[in-house]
Amino acid sequence: MNDDHGPAARGRHITICEVGPRDGFQSEERFIPTDEKIAIVDAMFAAGLRQIQVTSFVSPRAVPQLADAEEVLARISRPEGASVSGLVANRKGAERAVGAGVDFVHGVLSASETHNRKNVNRPIDASLSEMEEVAAILAQGGVALEGGIATAFGCPFEGEVPAEQVGRIARRYQEMGAMRVSLGDTTGMATPVTVAAAISAIRDAAPGLEIGLHFHNTRGVGLACVMTGLSLGVTHYDASIGGLGGCPFAAGATGNICTEDLVYLLEESGYATGVDLQAIIAVAERTQETLGRPLPGQVMKAGPRLRRYDPDATRTAAG
Ligand code: COA
Ligand code: ZN
Repeated sequence: MNDDHGPAARGRHITICEVGPRDGFQSEERFIPTDEKIAIVDAMFAAGLRQIQVTSFVSPRAVPQLADAEEVLARISRPEGASVSGLVANRKGAERAVGAGVDFVHGVLSASETHNRKNVNRPIDASLSEMEEVAAILAQGGVALEGGIATAFGCPFEGEVPAEQVGRIARRYQEMGAMRVSLGDTTGMATPVTVAAAISAIRDAAPGLEIGLHFHNTRGVGLACVMTGLSLGVTHYDASIGGLGGCPFAAGATGNICTEDLVYLLEESGYATGVDLQAIIAVAERTQETLGRPLPGQVMKAGPRLRRYDPDATRTAAG
């Protein structure tokens, strides 16, 4: 195991893909005004994020919150070097994504049969065949494919998902020309042990294919799983502003690992993210205001590590 945190990690770049506008907003019942979605995405770019999964190109009946996908894409400001993506589950979504001008698409299918049927209303094999057509549409439109594998570390309906099944799907994505696979921990079932097993299965089944990790913090071990990914050389992680997130078609789904908390962990461990912690905390605070409720992120509450308090304003213990 290549365990290189600390001084050896100094300056090594880790990519954070912000997924709050998709994975987070998709479950919000009250429609978030399009202007506010755009302002939040723009503020995320201004804070230094360079990859954002902005929306989904799925049925507006399945996910009404993201029915404004095209308008959001058209009106966000995309800084030099920025990369925006949208989630796609079928051919129609691929055509919409190409038309809207995304840089890459996050293709979605699940490693477990029951979740795949709940989420995209078809068996895994049908999703894989359709994904081949999606890949062809994207290739023709000059758009890259990130191969999403939901329920990669366990399924809320079926339980354990074999690592070999994740490897088999990764192999199919590699054959389709995907630039990377993204392992989705839909309901926070990943642990350091299952993460290591899935990475090893993919490296066996699809050598050379880049791996991205998408954790949810449902059981409080999301950042521990990131540490496992780092120790195994994975440099691409999804995270969500304030720890927002969760799939509406997976029982027990809660938020992604939190972007600001991940920035804090990585920067304090010697990695470079390009993200300004104070600025991203401000975006998390704004998002809380927009949604009208507190989000689970911890660093936005506690502040940076060296935040200092006035001793005179704090009670002294006296017996
Ligand atoms: N964009 C817009 N509309 C779409 C669409 C897309 N990508 N895909 C399908 N539709 C519309 C069709 O036009 C059709 O509309 P109509 O009845 O007015 O003609 C309707 O949806 C049904 O189409 P069908 O191909 O039969 O879809 P389906 O019922 O098998 O559903 C999905 C398939 C993938 C579109 C749907 O399950 C879905 O959108 N799932 C959401 C997945 C998701 O975002 N999950 C959360 C993230 S993990
Ligand atoms: Zn997710």
